[in-house]
Amino acid sequence: MNILVTGGTGYIGSHTCVELLNSNHSVVIVDNLINSKIETIDKIQEITGKDVVFYEKDVTNKESVDEIFSNHKFDGIIHFAGLKAVGESVSKPLDYYFNNLVSTMVLSKACIKYGVNKFVFSSSATVYGDNKVPFIETMELLKTTNPYGETKAMSERILTDTSLANSEFSVALLRYFNPVGAHESGLIGESPNGIPNNLMPFVSKVAKGELKKLSIFGDDYNTVDGTGVRDYIHVVDLAIGHVSAIEKLNSGVNVYNLGTGKGTSVLEIVNAFKEVNKIDIPYEIVERRPGDIASCYADANKAKKELNWEAKKDINEMVRDSWRFEKNYNI
Ligand code: NAD
Ligand code: UFG
Repeated sequence: MNILVTGGTGYIGSHTCVELLNSNHSVVIVDNLINSKIETIDKIQEITGKDVVFYEKDVTNKESVDEIFSNHKFDGIIHFAGLKAVGESVSKPLDYYFNNLVSTMVLSKACIKYGVNKFVFSSSATVYGDNKVPFIETMELLKTTNPYGETKAMSERILTDTSLANSEFSVALLRYFNPVGAHESGLIGESPNGIPNNLMPFVSKVAKGELKKLSIFGDDYNTVDGTGVRDYIHVVDLAIGHVSAIEKLNSGVNVYNLGTGKGTSVLEIVNAFKEVNKIDIPYEIVERRPGDIASCYADANKAKKELNWEAKKDINEMVRDSWRFEKNYNI
């Protein structure tokens, strides 16, 4: 297939491009580089030994998107492009609603106009809100606690309604749990700007000595050791999930959790990082972070059954690959 990947120089997008190319698909990337670097294109090509086409464009811009769709014949699109910082979405809601919703609408319209009938969308487990774990695709969605989460819930509705009105237009709504880790080459990984908000990049910076210590947000949750529990998934497993989703896409709207089905606490992550990488992670327990829930993990059976996909890499591989990338990156 010839696949348009929006946000393809970003963290999850770059790993997915590698797996698409490894599965003999061809890839056109569009990214405005607001949260990624052009060098990632060379790294994708270095890892795979294959070429990609790259457009530095904004996918909220109708003319730019039209130009790309008229230059290529796509079999499908994977739409990663978006803003994703939960805290920033609270202080800049309009930036988030504009970027994340207009991009989805402009791209869907182009798909209908040019007859591109497979649309894979990056959603998030955040749409489940504070439901009872494990989260399963049939659950009623609860209100999310921030504008970022709302953009995911609204994009899901926009794509669902578009598919209902256009029977040829098939959609996969992929609800990611907590992506971590990096490609084993150490060439691509997650490199957030500034001080990381997410656990694994923060722990990696502490390991590197760039940050003094980790603050663990609360140890009084009703979990195995009182710290928050999440379903961490290796980004390469997640990337392979996208290849399965676009190759096996059924007609209509298809919702899949992409997670491992296992919950891991903050302290368990810290201990695995220490043991596997033989490096100390100083930490202190602080107040709970507003908006956090105690536990979030997937029921991962639907993707296994319908997409023949399941996550294979364990926590030890996740902390090892996160650290390898951190050491290689930015030296
Ligand atoms: P990322 O920031 O690394 O990648 C997103 C890419 O999109 C970046 O390269 C950015 O430059 C690009 N982009 C943003 N707006 C754009 C626009 N208007 N036009 C063109 N390019 C644009 O983030 P990621 O972690 O790879 O996430 C990819 C997608 O998955 C996002 O939609 C995100 O919301 C979603 N997601 C991520 C997580 C996570 O924890 N990383 C969890 C659930 C869902
Ligand atoms: N945590 C700490 N200290 C930190 C950072 C995080 O203790 O410095 C804890 C959190 O309290 C939580 C766990 O580590 O218990 C994971 O936190 P992250 O910030 O890494 O991830 P979240 O589960 O809060 O959020 C992530 C993505 C969101 C997405 C959500 C659900 O960042 O975009 O998963 O998919 F919406």
